[in-house]
Amino acid sequence: MKIIGTGSALPEKVVTNDMLAGFLETSDSWIRTRTGIETRRLLSTETLSELAMTAAMKALESSKMKPEDIDYIICSNVANSYVTPSLSSIIMGPLGCKCPCTDINGACVGFIYALDIADAFVKTGKAKNILIVAAEEPSRFCNWHERETSVLFADGAGAVVVTEGEGFRDFIVTGDTHTDVLYYKRQMEVTPYDRVEEKTQPLVMQGREVFKLAVRSCIKDVDTILERNGLTGKEIDMYLLHQANKRINDSIREHLGEPEAKFPLNMTKYGNTSSASIPILMDELSREGVLKDGMKLLLSAFGGGFVTGAAILDWSAIEYDKENNE
Ligand code: ACO
Repeated sequence: MKIIGTGSALPEKVVTNDMLAGFLETSDSWIRTRTGIETRRLLSTETLSELAMTAAMKALESSKMKPEDIDYIICSNVANSYVTPSLSSIIMGPLGCKCPCTDINGACVGFIYALDIADAFVKTGKAKNILIVAAEEPSRFCNWHERETSVLFADGAGAVVVTEGEGFRDFIVTGDTHTDVLYYKRQMEVTPYDRVEEKTQPLVMQGREVFKLAVRSCIKDVDTILERNGLTGKEIDMYLLHQANKRINDSIREHLGEPEAKFPLNMTKYGNTSSASIPILMDELSREGVLKDGMKLLLSAFGGGFVTGAAILDWSAIEYDKENNE
């Protein structure tokens, strides 16, 4: 399976660390040094489904596929204002597609999980051309009176179109129960039989625990996938890692002993956009011409659960229509 189109969309509202320090007891220097984040984009006037639509349309356009060519849509989304219908159902009609569609929740690893599922569908002939959209609004899970979480998260959407062909070599997806280190609980309706009203619990995160789990498990995934594909870290041209915290990514890079240039970052300007972070980064690098034909890429991410995932692929350059290439 290979990627033949990419797209992304971000909210217009740019929020700086200083803006957050205007109402939270925090500072630009704390956020920069602890996380690498300088600004983030937050939904204000747009909706998540609009971002998902825009990212999907750009991916479709660059893939040169028509909406009717798509025979499966997978959206990666942790939560949005609709519990049902799925985000993939919501965007399918306006996109002009008519095919099976479903949402998955693989936390921040959702994009890699979606690719892994798509790869199995393509290999078995269940589907040929699949649209994957990772669209997330984690800023809406946070308690905005708490500095521990709200400064980290941001909103955005990234999308790819995949089809048959040489590209992905291997995937790893893992799960290990640590449900207490990162969770967000939503209130549901009270029934006549269950009158205990459980309130919404905005995002709870044990930051240090998440940090340690993330570094440990991503290093394990990266080492395992390199070894079983007979590759060394040096042979990877670029590492597209989940954009949660620069220090997490630096720890993985230091373990591999590889140069900073191979570890592009965009959490500096976009914050942590959960499962959308890797496809947004991929779309930007591809449109800028940084991702060149034949480059070996390694993707790796971690997320609440605790789940992780990694993939290795050989990149095929995508030609973008210059007028729409923004
Ligand atoms: N501004 C200023 N001070 C703060 C802030 C803030 N925004 N947040 C916490 N602090 C304070 C704490 O209260 C603490 O104060 P104290 O020493 O008086 O007790 C101090 O800063 C140090 O807090 P720590 O939690 O020890 O800081 P740490 O260096 O561990 O950094 C951080 C915290 C950035 C959250 C880090 O642990 C981290 O990045 N963890 C991983 C988070 C992550 O990746 N989350 C997403 C995971 S999954 C997904 O992507 C959805």
